[in-house]
Amino acid sequence: MKGLILSGGKGTRLRPLTHTRAKQLIPIGGKPNLFYVVEDLVAAGISDIGVIISPETGDEVREALGSGERFGAEFNFIVQDQPLGLAHAVKSARGFLGGDPFVVYLGDNLLSGGIGHLVEAYRIRKSEAVLLYTRVADPRAFGVVVLDGSGRVAKLVEKPQDPPSNLALVGVYLFTPAVHGVIDMLKPSARGEYEITEAIQGLVDKSLKVEAFEVQGWWKDTGRPEDLLDANRLVLSDIRRKIEGELEGSEVVGEVVVEASAVIKNSTVRGPAYIGAGARVEESFVGPYTAIGNSAQVIKSEVEYSILLDGASVKNLPYRLDSSVLGEGVSVDGQGSQRRNTLQLVLGDRSQVKL
Ligand code: DAU
Repeated sequence: MKGLILSGGKGTRLRPLTHTRAKQLIPIGGKPNLFYVVEDLVAAGISDIGVIISPETGDEVREALGSGERFGAEFNFIVQDQPLGLAHAVKSARGFLGGDPFVVYLGDNLLSGGIGHLVEAYRIRKSEAVLLYTRVADPRAFGVVVLDGSGRVAKLVEKPQDPPSNLALVGVYLFTPAVHGVIDMLKPSARGEYEITEAIQGLVDKSLKVEAFEVQGWWKDTGRPEDLLDANRLVLSDIRRKIEGELEGSEVVGEVVVEASAVIKNSTVRGPAYIGAGARVEESFVGPYTAIGNSAQVIKSEVEYSILLDGASVKNLPYRLDSSVLGEGVSVDGQGSQRRNTLQLVLGDRSQVKL
């Protein structure tokens, strides 16, 4: 069985962060989303992996993933010229997929329970497609699935205004090669994309066996900034204390990871929290559910429930920074106590500051 990770697309909902980087590489709990995806595939016994990349961010993805050796995987990078939809991405990988069954895993999806049960279900039940779903309060932002009484898929709709059920499609799908013929017949949807949900509907319409199972554990689509923060919270909820950096005159409470060469000086860090390699926290408070990137700095400031990407810095802030995502190298400096009512900011394109 092969794996196909979709790591192309535009990431428009995550701007300004995705002006400069692939959304799938934004770190969650200190590690790019994409790495969790690779690990899930490898843990399910799938090491022959195709990776769909875009012309704009492909090089960055290639560089981050490398040869695959460190994951115990082999990567085949496939450039999708334009982000014409998930089914189009599968079509672009036809040469790599050949006649094998395969798992499509969206590079911005995160699952706590892995995908072992999906692969196992296929081995036992030999369906033409196996899907995962989860119950959500508002399914309008997702593919929505309707099941018959026996767990077989009766109908699917992509992002419906009037959802026929509350079962949202998770971005992990297992297919046999039967799907290729259906994809060849697809027309672009109203939003101009070749939809994977319509391809699956095509299998259902041919009376082929398509089944769906409830996802195990939590699932997150990290497509919007608030989802990134929530995914970060969920990942950090599971970390275990590991202190490899240097602590000086500081209180580090609970489940906190401090990577090698990080320095925490005269500060309080309250877990769960992650402090990346080479980061510096000085005379500051880092609160729960915060991930500080490699070589990032928090000086004379308070940060909580936030993600600082590599090299970002927060200094002399007269306000507590909360529920924020600061891009790579972003610098926020409050300029010290005498000027509490003014803020001088140097921020990337379309950054947002809420005070
Ligand atoms: O996350 C689950 C949802 O994912 C499902 O419920 C929906 O049925 C499914 O259509 C999909 O919806 P999204 O709108 O969230 O998909 P998005 O455009 O964000 O793309 C998902 C991933 O696939 C993302 O990592 C980018 C990549 N991608 C996307 C497109 C459109 C590609 O590699 N190529 C593409 O052409």
